[in-house]
Amino acid sequence: MTIRSSLTVVLAAGEGTRMRSQLAKVLHPVAGQSLLSHVLRAAPNGAGASLAVVVGPDHQAVADEAKQLRPDASIFIQHERLGTAHAVLAAREAIVRGADDLLVAFGDTPLISAETFERLRAPLREGAALAVLGFRAANPAGYGRLLIEGGRVMAIREHGDASAEERKIDLCNAGVMAFAGETALGILDKIGKANSKGEHYLVDAVAIVRSMGLEAVVIETSEDEVRGINTKAQLAEAEAVMQARLRKAALDAGVTMIAPETVFLAADTTFGSDVTIEPFVVIGPGVSIADRAVIHSFSHLVQASIGKEASVGPYARLRPGTSLGDGARIGNFVETKAARLEAGVKVNHLSYIGDAEVGASTNIGAGTITCNYDGFSKHKTMIGKGAFVGTNSSLVAPVAIGNGAYIGSGSVITKDVPDDAMAVERSPQSIREGGATRYREMKMKNKKGA
Ligand code: UD1
Ligand code: MG
Repeated sequence: MTIRSSLTVVLAAGEGTRMRSQLAKVLHPVAGQSLLSHVLRAAPNGAGASLAVVVGPDHQAVADEAKQLRPDASIFIQHERLGTAHAVLAAREAIVRGADDLLVAFGDTPLISAETFERLRAPLREGAALAVLGFRAANPAGYGRLLIEGGRVMAIREHGDASAEERKIDLCNAGVMAFAGETALGILDKIGKANSKGEHYLVDAVAIVRSMGLEAVVIETSEDEVRGINTKAQLAEAEAVMQARLRKAALDAGVTMIAPETVFLAADTTFGSDVTIEPFVVIGPGVSIADRAVIHSFSHLVQASIGKEASVGPYARLRPGTSLGDGARIGNFVETKAARLEAGVKVNHLSYIGDAEVGASTNIGAGTITCNYDGFSKHKTMIGKGAFVGTNSSLVAPVAIGNGAYIGSGSVITKDVPDDAMAVERSPQSIREGGATRYREMKMKNKKGA
C-alpha cells in the first residue's frame, strides 16, 4: 500500500473568553501539556504528513507552541473570525500545495487519538470526497446534527437551524473532517460563495459534496474523544478523561498502583518495569521512572529522572532538574531542585538539596540545607562520593565537599572541605559536673521563697 500524503489544518484561533483567562485557550494544559500539543501529537506525522496551524491575530504564543512541537508546521493567521471554513481557507497556501488527504482538526479538542485520524482517512482511499467524524452525544443540544440516509451523510444541520424532529437525532458533528485532496479546495471555495450571513461554516461542505454528486460518509467515535473545551469546567472534565487513560496505560504497562484514581500522571511520563506508585502521588511533565523504583505516597515530581530501584517519599518534592541515580533514596519532607544525586545517595529526612551535585553513596543527614541563594544569585554545592554530611548542616554555596569528607552535625560550611577531611563548625561543648542538680536546687529554692 502506498502512503497517502496528508495536510492537517488545525484551527486554533479560538477566542476562549469563557475560560476567563489571559492565556490563549489552546495553551491551557491537560495532563501537563497544552490542548494544542495533544492535537498535534495525534495528527498524522512523519513521511508525507504536513501540518498547518491557523491562529488568531495576536496569538504569537500559540504559534510558538505549535513550532516547538512541530518545527515543520506552517503558521497562518486568521485576521477576522468569520467561521470555521474561513479559518481553514486562511491556510489556502498550504492547501494549494496539494496532498492526497486534507484533515481539519480543532485545537481545543485534546482527547482525539491518532487512530481516529487514521479511521477518518480510510474512506477517502475508497473514493469518498469527505469523511465527517460523528459521535453519539449524551446531550446533543448545541451540536450540529448529522442527517443520514442509506448510510450516507446528507447534511449537517446546526442546532439553531434544526427542526424539532431533527433535534431528536443524537448523532452529532465532532467538527473534525477529512477531505479528498483533489476536490477539497473546490468545495471549500464553494462554502465561501454559498454563504449569506457573512460566515463560512465548514459543516456546509456536506451539502456541497452531495450537490457535486460526490460521496460523504460518517465515521463514529466516542463522545469522550471529541470533547471541545470552552470553559474551565470542560477543561477539568477533559483532564479526568485523560487521567483515566494514562492510568490505564500505566497499569497495562505493568506499573503497580493500588489506588490509581488518586495518582496523577503527565502525558509524557515514562516507566520502566515493576515501578510502584503509592496512593496520592502527583507527577508533572518530564518525569521518567526506571525499573523497580518506588514512589511513596504524597510525593510531587516535575521534570525529574528516577533511577532503578530508587525510592522517593513519602512526602517528597522533586522539582525540575532532579536526577536520581540507581538506588538513591529521598525520604520524607525532602525537596530537591536542579540536583544530580548519583547512585545510592541517601537524603532520608527534612532536607533541601538545590543546585547541587552529590556523588555516589553519600549520606546527607536530616535537616541538611544547601544554601544556594544569596538574595541575588544562585550558587552550586558540589559534594563528592562516599561523603557524610551530619544532621542540620548548612552548606553555604558556592562550596565543595570532597570525596569521603565528613561534616559534623550542625555545621555551617562556608569553605571547601578537602577529600577525606573532617569539618566541624560549632562552639565547643562545655560540661559542668553536677550542674543539673545545682540548677534544679536553685530553682526549687527560688520557687519556695516566692
Ligand atoms: C462546531 C460545528 C458543529 C459541531 C461542533 C462540535 C461549525 C459551523 N459547527 O460548532 O457542527 O457540532 O463544532 O464541537 O463548524 N474557529 C476558528 N475561526 C473561526 C471560527 C472558529 O479558528 O472563525 C475555530 C475555533 O477556535 C474552534 C473551532 O474552530 O477550535 C470550532 O469553532 P466553534 O466556534 O467552537 O464551533 P461550534 O459552535 O462549537
Ligand atoms: Mg466549539
